[in-house]
Amino acid sequence: MELPSLLLCILLKVSAVGCQVLAQERIVGGYVPVPHSIKYIVSIQTTDRQHFCGGFLINKFWVITAAHCNIGLNRMVMVAGDYSLTVYEGTEQEIQPQILLPHPDYNSVTNNSDIMLIKLRAPVFLNSYISVVLLPRQDATIAEGKMCRVSGWGYTAPSGGQIPSTLRTVTLPIVSMEKCNSSDSFNGSITESMLCAGYSLGGKDACQGDSGGPLVCNGRAYGVVSWGKGCAEAQFPGVYTAVSKFRKWIDETIFSYYSRCHTN
Ligand SMILES: *[C@@H]1O[C@H](CO)[C@@H](O)[C@H](O)[C@H]1NC(C)=O
Ligand SMILES: *[C@@H]1O[C@H](CO)[C@@H](O)[C@H](O)[C@H]1NC(C)=O
Ligand SMILES: *[C@@H]1O[C@H](CO)[C@@H](O)[C@H](O)[C@H]1NC(C)=O
Repeated sequence: MELPSLLLCILLKVSAVGCQVLAQERIVGGYVPVPHSIKYIVSIQTTDRQHFCGGFLINKFWVITAAHCNIGLNRMVMVAGDYSLTVYEGTEQEIQPQILLPHPDYNSVTNNSDIMLIKLRAPVFLNSYISVVLLPRQDATIAEGKMCRVSGWGYTAPSGGQIPSTLRTVTLPIVSMEKCNSSDSFNGSITESMLCAGYSLGGKDACQGDSGGPLVCNGRAYGVVSWGKGCAEAQFPGVYTAVSKFRKWIDETIFSYYSRCHTN
């Protein structure tokens, strides 16, 4: 499946029949978490308030998402403190992006370096509904079989009728690079800066609309939802951007913006 068409599909609210084959259960096989228990996640929306990607707060001025979620600065808004996308809960904070910084090495063919930093126009107010998530250290690894949590607001299949709006979450084991890159699976398309998570029998996975959201292991965001083959298919785990490979870039980029700020 091609991401641009998927994205378009999602932007079209998954209403057209043509989107039917592309739209899948969001967070397949997961469950609804306790409201506001996942405080670092943000919904990234179009200016007409259609959710299309997830993201996560790493401090009150910065969000991380996938580079393939970049639809342009003036077309995006973010909502922190959200749970149900359709119900106003009074906990939401709308945050405007000021600068989009997709990774300079992002390659939409190989899906490599699928990570983007978003600087916010104004700081988000951290409270009991909104907080940040820690990041792994540069090059930190996570063992095969380690359980991690991925969350998001992807869309359901049109055949399912309504588009439910509450956040969902699922826990998945990390799959080894060797298994994920093997000819039984992604056959050589997995790079050192990707991470795989899922069950060999499938059934649980992130899906389109969950893109950009965090895969959290040991309380740290090790992955960014990036790509896959369909959703929750046997032998094909979800593929995530390995955040630990970009920790230096993240720190240096953020630091350079703060220094710039101080010299102004
Ligand atoms: C990149 O991701 C898309 C799914 O979004 C997939 O179809 C494609 O095969 C991936 N590219 C490579 C080289 O694996
Ligand atoms: C895996 O990739 C190799 C080399 O690109 C190719 O020759 C082979 O047909 C692929 N195998 C499968 C199962 O797709
Ligand atoms: C995956 O396989 C390809 C082709 O054999 C190889 O070039 C690449 O380095 C492998 N990725 C990892 C992370 O080992």
